[in-house]
Amino acid sequence: MRSFAAVDFRREAKRRLPHFLFDYVDGGAGDERTLDANVADLAKIVLRQRVLRDVSALDPKTSLFGVEQSLPVVMAPIGIGGLLGRRGEAQAARAALAAGVPFCLSTMSICGLGEVKAVHGAPFWFQLYVMRDRAFMRELIARAAEMGCSALVFTVDMAVPGIRYRDYRSGLTNAPGLGGSLRRLGQALAHPGWAWDVGLHGRPHSFGNMSSVLAGKNSLSDYFAWLRENFDASIQWSDLAEIRAMWKGPLLLKGILDPDDARRAADLGADGVIVSNHGGRQLDGASSTAAALPAIAEAVGDRLTVMADGGVRSGADVLRMLALGAKGVMIGRAWAYALAAGGGKGVARMLESLDAEIRVAMALTGVTRVEEIDRGLIV
Ligand code: FNR
Repeated sequence: MRSFAAVDFRREAKRRLPHFLFDYVDGGAGDERTLDANVADLAKIVLRQRVLRDVSALDPKTSLFGVEQSLPVVMAPIGIGGLLGRRGEAQAARAALAAGVPFCLSTMSICGLGEVKAVHGAPFWFQLYVMRDRAFMRELIARAAEMGCSALVFTVDMAVPGIRYRDYRSGLTNAPGLGGSLRRLGQALAHPGWAWDVGLHGRPHSFGNMSSVLAGKNSLSDYFAWLRENFDASIQWSDLAEIRAMWKGPLLLKGILDPDDARRAADLGADGVIVSNHGGRQLDGASSTAAALPAIAEAVGDRLTVMADGGVRSGADVLRMLALGAKGVMIGRAWAYALAAGGGKGVARMLESLDAEIRVAMALTGVTRVEEIDRGLIV
């Protein structure tokens, strides 16, 4: 197989996607310092090259929450991922299933839970955003349970949406009415491959899980305006009890960046935390995840499952996160670029490349099983 690096998928995604969609995926909050730090700090982690250790039988499998998976990787929730390829989340979920890697569907996906369930069949993960309308939250949790989702990921770093200037400049947000629609249409028509495949044949482009609350809204700008108004900034630790009581399966808190918050999550009965700054899309100036992870793993690693994301672009990056204390790693942009570059086949190729990269990195650091990866791998 020919391997493709994340930069190859990113370049192709930039070529194929309308400007407002590429910048939506690629960009972050504020001056994008945290976005850049995620990648830069991970790159600074130097792996120890070890030799002559018989690495002929490599096994990158692992288990999360009692379920075996082929790689220590989970596909992170990506809002409006369904605009990056035709019915994008359904395609990506299918590719993840074929590769033996869990797929996590966003609350803000284009394809709803039912559509993904129909093409995927097996259990997948669901990510929850809490809106002011708590009846809607209960409806989402109940629906995820009904669809057999195997883990609930409650994203906690979105009390308010981050300020993402690239989305303002591109016309994705703050471009209401006909003017905004025409601007985005112009960008779409400049990318006829996308316009035909996704823009035309990928409809409807509404949020599949949110039809009950978004009725009457019919453009991307309307959706984003509604979301800005409806994210529940009053959400607090005491609200976790209700979610915990409703959800019987594994419950993870995503967006933990501080050991005190991680301890509190453990105290309140979470099964896992995902050390994350939302891919640098929320608090610009927050710590990179590579910098935050070790203290959190140290604080709660014996009480719950610590995962991490942010800046992971290669198999070596997956090993770095595991060496820093994560038991599993989420990838966001890596699959988003691949989906935009080549649809479900692109995601499948990306996962094959990641598998190859993880195996090579394991072999050359002298480990044959994921359980052997620890701080000892780092110089
Ligand atoms: C995200 N992320 C995200 N997280 C979440 O909990 N719900 C969501 O709907 C979204 N939507 C979303 C859209 C896009 C375009 C991106 C890039 C990210 C955050 C995501 O799950 C993950 O935390 C980051 O993407 C991890 O960083 P990397 O791998 O992209 O560097």
